[in-house]
Amino acid sequence: MEKREDGGWTESAQNWIDHIELGDTLREDILDEPFLNCIKSRSPQNLLDLGCGEGRLIRMIAELGIHGTGLDPTEDLLRAARIRDPEGSYVNGFAEKLPFEDDSFEMVTSVITIPDIEDIDLAVSEVVRVLKPGGHFLAATLSPFVTCVPFPWKRDEQGNALYRSMDWYGWEHATKLEWRGISIVNFHRSMSRLMRPFLEQGLVLTQYEEPLPSLEKRREKPGLWEDVRVPLGMIMEWRKP
Ligand SMILES: C[S@@+](CC[C@H](N)C(=O)[O-])C[C@H]1O[C@@H](n2cnc3c(N)ncnc32)[C@H](O)[C@@H]1O
Repeated sequence: MEKREDGGWTESAQNWIDHIELGDTLREDILDEPFLNCIKSRSPQNLLDLGCGEGRLIRMIAELGIHGTGLDPTEDLLRAARIRDPEGSYVNGFAEKLPFEDDSFEMVTSVITIPDIEDIDLAVSEVVRVLKPGGHFLAATLSPFVTCVPFPWKRDEQGNALYRSMDWYGWEHATKLEWRGISIVNFHRSMSRLMRPFLEQGLVLTQYEEPLPSLEKRREKPGLWEDVRVPLGMIMEWRKP
């Protein structure tokens, strides 16, 4: 696959903003609640959000009284974040080269940014460097069980979802994702490949969840069933000793 410096994010920025404004099921109906609960339970004094996009998480935690700094390499998304939150801190940069001092943050978060990061080993070593001892890295990401083949529902003639396919699971590889005018490159990694840099850096796994939408949400949006028949999103929290 053709390698693109920014993974397609600059060209996709406006469509991504529109997508978030329209509503993202995985975030709104499945990941947000448990993710915010984890942040609340730690009540960090400061927090860095990797790949903050248009600043959604930073605005949500501000409502909880938690100050966050958003980092993202896509200038158009940072501009949107600053417009939505003029008082907020938004910094241009890559997870692989964090522009912060050692031991700066009590918590580092990322919401579905890990699949966008090309060098995950370098990024995790940077996270460990900027975390204070005893600090936590809280990441929501796509389940490796679905990233190996993007959007693979096999459907019958009526459009009903039959099953999803899996291929090349054990091999780290790039995939192209295209939806709602967004066209980006993601990186698939198996579960063991994903866990390796955290374990090698000596981090301790303190939480692991594969959240499902509440019964209430499932009643409200029957279409959600399709999203949860296979593992879609996961949340993991690691502590720096
Ligand atoms: C799927 S979006 C998620 C945005 C935001 N976290 C959210 O949940 O709305 C992925 C984000 O990662 C950013 N990104 C891409 N490569 C990155 C890298 N190497 N380091 C940090 N962020 C990156 C993109 O610019 C984009 O904003």
